[in-house]
Amino acid sequence: MTNPPSAAAPQASRSARETQLRASGTPEKPTPIVRVEGLCKSYRTARGELLLFEDLNLEIASGEMVAIVGQSGAGKSTLLHILGALDAPSAGTVYCASTNVASLSRRQAVAFRNREIGYVWQFHYLLPEFTAEENVAMPLLARGMGKQEALQTASNWLREVDLEDRGTHRPGELSGGEQQRVALARALVCNPRLLLADEPTGDLDSMTAGRVFELIERLHASHGLTSILVTHNMELAQRCTRTLRLANGRLAALTGAAQPTT
Ligand SMILES: Nc1ncnc2c1ncn2[C@@H]1O[C@H](COP(=O)(O)OP(=O)(O)OP(=O)(O)O)[C@@H](O)[C@H]1O
Ligand SMILES: [Mg+2]
Repeated sequence: MTNPPSAAAPQASRSARETQLRASGTPEKPTPIVRVEGLCKSYRTARGELLLFEDLNLEIASGEMVAIVGQSGAGKSTLLHILGALDAPSAGTVYCASTNVASLSRRQAVAFRNREIGYVWQFHYLLPEFTAEENVAMPLLARGMGKQEALQTASNWLREVDLEDRGTHRPGELSGGEQQRVALARALVCNPRLLLADEPTGDLDSMTAGRVFELIERLHASHGLTSILVTHNMELAQRCTRTLRLANGRLAALTGAAQPTT
């Protein structure tokens, strides 16, 4: 893994900036946790090349909670997949959590995700034959933690998402909101730096969606996360520190414009 070369960094949060000013007397720009420069992504399809991004740029500072909105097919999921090393860029620079994601082998990508990324999708993808506690413990078992410790840590995480009394339930014995809270606990059980959430409330009724979003806000703050949330819900998007719209292969700031993003 290599460190990102120095680059124009985004504005830090106010408190981070103030701390830096106090410490050094001069403002210092923090290294962004996500830095995408000149990202190009195209797919080869039976009907020819599908060009999604030609020159996409993005910087996200540590601690930001950024919403990405945009029409269906704009490439929101593809962008999250590239940030999470689930898909490869066609060209360009993509640094995520101090890692050049394009340079990772398949094995390194798995380790990178386990260590740095918590991923949540619209559908929970919990394993139906395992209990909530076992599902949350899976990423810890995958990194070699002993079963007892993994189950104990999972149980603690279920308490964090207010589901301490549902640990022995299988996914089919949980409500939609509860399933998504278990998925959140599973995403965060390895203490990642980044939470990537792809329409995490898209499958829920509006009241349950609001509660799950509140939980994301709480976990974001209490665990010092940097979060990127794809959503079609503008009301929820506007609760983030910044909202970006993805259209025509570029990101444009809708709210909280701290930096140019195109
Ligand atoms: N592996 C692939 N091969 C070819 N085309 C793909 C592939 N993955 C995605 N696409 C195409 O890329 C475009 C962007 O897809 P993506 O899933 O990123 O959109 P999205 O913005 O997340 O949409 P939605 O809001 O509906 O989830 C779509 O037109 C899709 O058909
Ligand atoms: Mg999508």
